[in-house]
Amino acid sequence: MARPYQPPLPEEYTRLSPEALDARIAAARAALGRALVILGHHYQRDEIIKHADYTGDSYKLSQLAAARHDAEFIVFCGVHFMAESADILAGEHQRVILPNLEAGCSMADMANLGQVQACWQQLGAAVGGGTVPLTYVNSSADLKAFCGENGGSCCTSSNAIGAMTWALAQGERVLFFPDEHLGRNTAVKLGVAPEECVVWDPTQELGGNTAAALARARVILWKGFCSVHQRFSVAQIEQARQRYPEVRVIVHPECRQEVVQAADDDGSTEYIIKKVREAPAGTTWAIGTEINLVHRLAQQHPEQRIFCLDPIVCPCATMYRIHPAFLLWALENLVRGRVVNEIVVAPHVITAARLALDRMLSIA
Ligand code: 13P
Ligand code: SF4
Repeated sequence: MARPYQPPLPEEYTRLSPEALDARIAAARAALGRALVILGHHYQRDEIIKHADYTGDSYKLSQLAAARHDAEFIVFCGVHFMAESADILAGEHQRVILPNLEAGCSMADMANLGQVQACWQQLGAAVGGGTVPLTYVNSSADLKAFCGENGGSCCTSSNAIGAMTWALAQGERVLFFPDEHLGRNTAVKLGVAPEECVVWDPTQELGGNTAAALARARVILWKGFCSVHQRFSVAQIEQARQRYPEVRVIVHPECRQEVVQAADDDGSTEYIIKKVREAPAGTTWAIGTEINLVHRLAQQHPEQRIFCLDPIVCPCATMYRIHPAFLLWALENLVRGRVVNEIVVAPHVITAARLALDRMLSIA
């Protein structure tokens, strides 16, 4: 799929001070009233989060998109796949807006429909039927539709265990895409043996496997990853433990298996926030996830010591593309009756993708 093009903002928006941006965003929100809902993913910068009606992880934001039927406009401060999911789950009268069309997800781009269809065909020829496709929500709408059409489902990091349990019960093996690490971490938690997990490299015939290895596999993991979470290492965890022996290490399950296993706990962004909120004063946390969230937690909990596992902090560059100037531009256009940056999933994709997302939402 061609990368969406975001035209440059009109100059008046690029010259505004942070205070002017804040004031005009607030005025536009007030003018739009209940017709507008702004959803903000936890990785958004503070300057965006302060204007969000709701914040959440992918699961919670999908639930909200499905629930807020009174809002005509859903402005999604997150990345492209999240806005697509909102459009699939929202009512026909609702319009979903992504303030910067270039806010994508590099992991979601690591699997496309043509590659997954080729994989499916090769798998079918090598092992016959019995494979259940399970896509991480960090994927394009047509891959969610592929799962819906082929007896599979979608999952987020917060219900991956339930979704993979469900998928394993439906067939002989699961094809999990596009995140190798979330897939492996989930399979390990479910007791799937290492030799029953194989990696599918879309650039190689049979994904780089023998037909016999594929036939033995219970979980086939697409070779995709998150560039932000891949940076966290066991060495960083060891350093944190040396410096603060009492430290609690909590990471996102998109981290590599050895990192998740060396940590004390792992979970979605919402789970990480919950754990920190519930901890007593004086707790020390080393957190392995995106830096905007870690900084915000550190600010909100001065009674605890909170730091990022990675000393060379790395934001999610695509989430960061939602600058307040883009949000203001999108909102002021809505006030003038003009919808910009609407995310519209094709009707022939929506039905099957909705099946996969509804399955996802039915699994806690
Ligand atoms: P969460 O669903 O945990 O918020 O994760 C989304 C994501 O993209 C993590 O990189
Ligand atoms: Fe995608 Fe990683 Fe950014 Fe999450 S943190 S949106 S997986 S690139």
